[in-house]
Amino acid sequence: MAEFRLTQISDTHLARRLARLTQNFDRVRDHIDATRPDLVVNTGDLAFDAPTSPDDLDYARSLHDALPVPCRYLPGNHDIGDNPTQVGPTPSHPVNEKARQAYLATFGDDRWRFEAAGWCFIGLNSLVMNSDLVSETEQFDWLAGELAMTSGRPVALFLHKPLFLNAPDDAELATTAIRYVPMPARRRLVEMLRGVNLRLIASGHVHQRRDFTYGHTRHVWSPSAGFILPERLQERIGLKEVGLVEYRFRTDSFEVRHVRAAGQIDFDLDEVWAKGPKAASPAKAPAATG
Ligand SMILES: [Fe+2]
Ligand SMILES: [Fe+2]
Repeated sequence: MAEFRLTQISDTHLARRLARLTQNFDRVRDHIDATRPDLVVNTGDLAFDAPTSPDDLDYARSLHDALPVPCRYLPGNHDIGDNPTQVGPTPSHPVNEKARQAYLATFGDDRWRFEAAGWCFIGLNSLVMNSDLVSETEQFDWLAGELAMTSGRPVALFLHKPLFLNAPDDAELATTAIRYVPMPARRRLVEMLRGVNLRLIASGHVHQRRDFTYGHTRHVWSPSAGFILPERLQERIGLKEVGLVEYRFRTDSFEVRHVRAAGQIDFDLDEVWAKGPKAASPAKAPAATG
């Protein structure tokens, strides 16, 4: 295959009760139907909030099943719970094996690897990092084996949480620790990746679009396909808009296109809740953490 076309979507946050998120997903589906990439990757937060509404996972799966191309998935914190961190408060729904198993039963593997157009593509479950779950150790062991087989070929890594804000050794802050892969797992992951030809890290979670290069690795933050977070809940780092990311991989090169599906609307979290059946407080809404 001379060229491999991959579309990344993220943070779809689907729920039967939140029609505006389904509305934006439908526009994304139309775009995918028109462009027909070789693969769609959803980098997590498939469900609006599975830890409190388990049906959200099934609903998200049913909508993804209607996409007209192959899909791969990775879990987000609103699918299986969040990472414990060294400095931040304990998450209201910490990641746990039961939630992970529910994800596996609905969406399949939470880590994967495949090759296309001379590239190695690796997807990781970033939520088990720093969790002390058995699957954290299993994933690191699995990753070491997979990285050893890349043999200098370019590697593209997909995961829900960005590795860091600007640099691998950024200090963890209590207010933002849940935004990135937590220490000390981050340090271990960075060390493991140092030995391979890592060209791209594609993440989601922050609900902001960002694109920067550190060393020879490009870091692409996909925006949410569904909604943005208002300023009072989250500072601006990149671009606050909904959308998706399109990639074209060729032997030893790749292109990135930041796009929006026609008709996608920049709903903010307040608007997402506005027509919901429950009068929930946006400040306490589970998705406020991204
Ligand atoms: Fe997230
Ligand atoms: Fe999210």
